[in-house]
Amino acid sequence: RGNMTVGETAKLLHKDASEVIKKLMFLGTMATINQELDLDAIQLLATEFGVEVEVKIVVEEDRFENFEETDEEENLMERPPVVTIMGHVDHGKTTLLDAIRETNVTGGEAGGITQHIGAYQVEAKGKKITFLDTPGHEAFTSMRARGASVTDITILVVAADDGVMPQTIEAINHAKAANVPIIVAINKMDKEGADPDRIKQSLTEYELVPEEWGGDTIFVPVSAKQRQGLDELLETILLVAEVNEYKANPNKRARGTVVEAELDKGRGAVARVLIQHGTLKVGDAFVAGVYFGRVRTMVNDKGRRLKEAGPSTPIEITGLTEVPLAGDPFIVFEDERKARDIAEKRTVALRQSEITANTRVTLDDLFQHI
Ligand code: GTP
Ligand code: MG
Repeated sequence: RGNMTVGETAKLLHKDASEVIKKLMFLGTMATINQELDLDAIQLLATEFGVEVEVKIVVEEDRFENFEETDEEENLMERPPVVTIMGHVDHGKTTLLDAIRETNVTGGEAGGITQHIGAYQVEAKGKKITFLDTPGHEAFTSMRARGASVTDITILVVAADDGVMPQTIEAINHAKAANVPIIVAINKMDKEGADPDRIKQSLTEYELVPEEWGGDTIFVPVSAKQRQGLDELLETILLVAEVNEYKANPNKRARGTVVEAELDKGRGAVARVLIQHGTLKVGDAFVAGVYFGRVRTMVNDKGRRLKEAGPSTPIEITGLTEVPLAGDPFIVFEDERKARDIAEKRTVALRQSEITANTRVTLDDLFQHI
């Protein structure tokens, strides 16, 4: 289960509820015994108490049936890895993303206008890599809390002239809670005072130990500004992807996650969606969160119109009835009637759950006081 009350968590950790409440207070949050904790918060508490908890993530939409089907191994095909870039403010996340994107526009797509779709794909060594431009840690947590695990690999950006900062640690905790591998990009290597060894040293405290020191974390020194080390970073991503063999079945109805959505004056509701399973086609009927729709137009991150999009492809679609939320599951159904039906049921369920919803302590609540 994703959430447990403070009392249940105490039992799990073999502690008194009062100890857990004290610890939460120490971390800056007042909680009662019946208050719910999300998974990240529970894991943080376990770490704080020095207790190992095995996390078995059973993907379970609390409110909605999720229509997930398992695939036979033989139907699975390699898909591009989905990578998220995280790190402290001003350490160079955006500059790094831009540098990677600009230097890796594939031949046929050169000259195309890059759209801001919250996610994009680059090609390196003939292989695609999907980057998610995370709108922030909060969205990451809320996506995870809702069962949407969208990222395969986290790039942790640390500025060589600044070092490990609060949001660096926060990003590490998010990645660990999501159980995704971390690649450390030591950025701003061009700056005077850049000290990569100091970064490596301070990250050992968080169990990120470089390979040359006997650990298994890959550190890549880069300069986003001078575009140094980008190839090595991309190669490292491909290496991690090769080891983990990310796969999906492209030959079925599409499922994915809404990354961003908004109301556009001319086009109506627009959603940027990361396709995770199956293939989405123009004309497909779908449900996004509690709304239904039918794909009217679909473009990729280069603004090119697509007729269909397979696993790990980020796209922008129109044809929604309303604006869904970031993190909402996106599911295609056999026809519009079914999609409409599901959307209606979900709207009713959502209203009911809103009435009974109680407050829940999240990882971000615990961190906002640091
Ligand atoms: P937030 O989105 O605010 O969290 O920041 P960010 O992590 O996206 O950092 P951003 O890319 O905006 O870079 C912050 C500043 O650092 C800018 O002034 C960049 O020009 C500068 N910067 C980024 N990368 C490098 C680098 O490799 N070398 C140098 N010298 N400066 C860099
Ligand atoms: Mg930025």
